[in-house]
Amino acid sequence: MIPKVRKAVFPAAGLGTRFLPATKAMPKEMLPLVDKPLIQYCVEEAMHSGIQDIIIVTGRGKSSIEDHFDVSFELEQLLESKNKTDMLSMVRSISDMIDVCYIRQKEALGLGHAVLRAKDLVGNEPFATVLSDDVIASDVPCIRQLLDIYEYYGASVVALMEVPPDQISSYGVVDAEPVSHNGNEHRVFRIRNMVEKPKPSDAPSNLAIIGRYILTPEIFTCIESIEPGAGGELQLTDALKYMLRSRPIYGLKFDGKRYDAGDKLGFLKATVEFALNRHDMGDAFRTYLKGLTL
Ligand code: G1P
Repeated sequence: MIPKVRKAVFPAAGLGTRFLPATKAMPKEMLPLVDKPLIQYCVEEAMHSGIQDIIIVTGRGKSSIEDHFDVSFELEQLLESKNKTDMLSMVRSISDMIDVCYIRQKEALGLGHAVLRAKDLVGNEPFATVLSDDVIASDVPCIRQLLDIYEYYGASVVALMEVPPDQISSYGVVDAEPVSHNGNEHRVFRIRNMVEKPKPSDAPSNLAIIGRYILTPEIFTCIESIEPGAGGELQLTDALKYMLRSRPIYGLKFDGKRYDAGDKLGFLKATVEFALNRHDMGDAFRTYLKGLTL
């Protein structure tokens, strides 16, 4: 029997240097796309994928994330007294959404290190890992798509996307062979090797890892076994590569559109597209954009 994935780890202790000065005193995970913080989109994706427990790995200056998922007593009282029932239920739904627990990563020593901080809270069971700067719009939540592959093979799965050569050095990149899965030859891969942030000339393919992972619990000993890699940090990609020595790992070219919302241009693209898709303001925003001289 393949164990069920119940928990998701959200590393959120990074310094957000790509988005300075906005992130000097504000966590990048709290940057809003239209009116909802990046991390809430990702928590909702996990929930809609059937995940029950959220573990957020935070650092200094990240308390607004905890406040966001907590009850806001004063705000609720105010909205109640003014009879703003819609807003009240929206605000309540965030704190009612899911059980969240927090663990601190005291130093930003890398993604692998952040995931390792969650070891005791995760225990000996498989879990999802979600990077909130990667916001993914899709019909079936991306985590759900990965879970379907995990539930079939019982092995770790990473989300994959083709990226252009001039961007490949920003990612973990895989060497992988397609496997026939439900008659579909082009979406599921068995991974042979992977490398974190390769030079374009060293990249084994154009398939990059995107911030969604299903990890079996052996990943923790793998992280403990590796040395710091790219950028002097403990890299999750290196731990996965270590795990490949003893276990298979799969990759899924997911259906959906991914926005790199931790990057200023990616964030703007996401903002525009999410606003255009909103029932309450999409039409007005479209009219506004059409009126611009571009
Ligand atoms: C992280 C991972 C990298 C992955 C990327 C996806 O890098 O280390 O393997 O491709 O997320 O967004 P970061 O963007 O934190 O440098």
